[in-house]
Amino acid sequence: MASDRVPVGIHDLTFRTTSLQLTHAELARHTGVPLAKYHQGIGQKAMSIPAPDEDVITMAAHAAAAVVGRHGADRIRTLVFATETSVDQAKAGGLYVHSLLGLPPHIRVVELKQACYGATAALQFATALVHRDPDQQVLVLASDIARYDLDSPGEPTQGAAAAALLVTARPALLEIDTPSGVFTHEVMDFWRPNYRSTALVDGRASIDAYLNALTGTFGDHQARGGAPLHRIRTICYHQPFTRMAHKAHHHLLQQAGLPTVPQDIAAALAPTTTYNEVLGNSYTASLYVALAALLDGPTPLDGETVGLFSYGSGSVAEFLTATVRPGYRDHVRTGAHRAAVTDRRPISYAAYRDLHSGTLPTDGGSHATAAATPGPYRLAGVRDHRRIYEATGPVDAGPATTGRCVAAPGEGGGG
Ligand code: HMG
Repeated sequence: MASDRVPVGIHDLTFRTTSLQLTHAELARHTGVPLAKYHQGIGQKAMSIPAPDEDVITMAAHAAAAVVGRHGADRIRTLVFATETSVDQAKAGGLYVHSLLGLPPHIRVVELKQACYGATAALQFATALVHRDPDQQVLVLASDIARYDLDSPGEPTQGAAAAALLVTARPALLEIDTPSGVFTHEVMDFWRPNYRSTALVDGRASIDAYLNALTGTFGDHQARGGAPLHRIRTICYHQPFTRMAHKAHHHLLQQAGLPTVPQDIAAALAPTTTYNEVLGNSYTASLYVALAALLDGPTPLDGETVGLFSYGSGSVAEFLTATVRPGYRDHVRTGAHRAAVTDRRPISYAAYRDLHSGTLPTDGGSHATAAATPGPYRLAGVRDHRRIYEATGPVDAGPATTGRCVAAPGEGGGG
């Protein structure tokens, strides 16, 4: 019973991160780089660092458990795990999450990759599936750990987070609008060959490619009749470092022939950067962490149009808008998000370097990881080339909401 008229979008959104953080103040003390370059130049204050028993699966399972705890899993028919930090060349990371959460068997689980763009592709595929059958729900998990070589220019932009998005008909948070603008251009700006655990990047080329893709997507969005710039209340940009969002907004305003006052740009973007400036780059989760920050912020957005710019190196990008649903504030998870950020334990530069060089053994033997995470899921080790995950405690799903999709007046049906 497909229907174009049923609004489809994000019913629930939450993120989790690692239990450790390295502050840029601590990094600067050892690199000799002026702290202002980190704080103002790239707009970063801290970065999430995974403990030895944390990875993209444990972060994603934690975020997903909160969503499933609030809404149940009865109507979830698809789980898409978007990541560029894949733990296996064949098996979808979402299968580990499916098992850890005890999800029902009648769910299709797949993994999706295109650098930082993967989660947006997953969101659009999810939206299409729900339009086809509005009774179904799709759980989109976006989970990444950004790792660059020690002492490289990318090092201060590292970070980690996982976002979980429940995509449904008659959503409580945001309705995904049509049309969207897309843009693809093959470029070697950032990549990670299968044999490497850290990314390779041409920093300057990546910034140019990002801005070029912004022009391409926004032009396509406008040519297809998308909301004009003056109707878009705020734009959430992919934030590899939060200053990149400032560069992007400046670029967009300049191309539109609008004033580019730095203070105005900073004020417009501040509500979207509060989490990412202390989490660092979480690759495909980053845009949705920016969106969570916006929704958690003090300014009411009921009925407003917000823009989302998703960029994945390599490169594929998309510019889309979403309409914030009236009453969305009853469904946000501000407390859990603030706790995820503030509960992280700061570590020393020496401890960070030790963790950075640690890798899981590849000899097929049995290796236990140190029990470190306070989170509800952990990577216990590897045995016979298999990752062993375990649940260690209950997950707080957050305050209950209606748990049902919200019907706007005249749309009928609860969902
Ligand atoms: P860098 O060479 O360390 O930094 O690399 P810089 O010398 O270009 O300085 C950075 C900024 O700090 C500059 O500002 C300086 O002026 C300023 P800008 O000119 O750009 O406005 N600065 C200072 N400010 C205040 N006080 C000071 C001071 N000194 C300098 N004392 C770079 C920076 C971003 C290139 C590097 O961190 C890098 O390679 N990062 C990784 C790549 C990246 O994040 N690219 C972003 C676009 S690509 C993307 O978003 C995709 C991605 O997420 C991956 C994916 O899709 O999967 C990365």
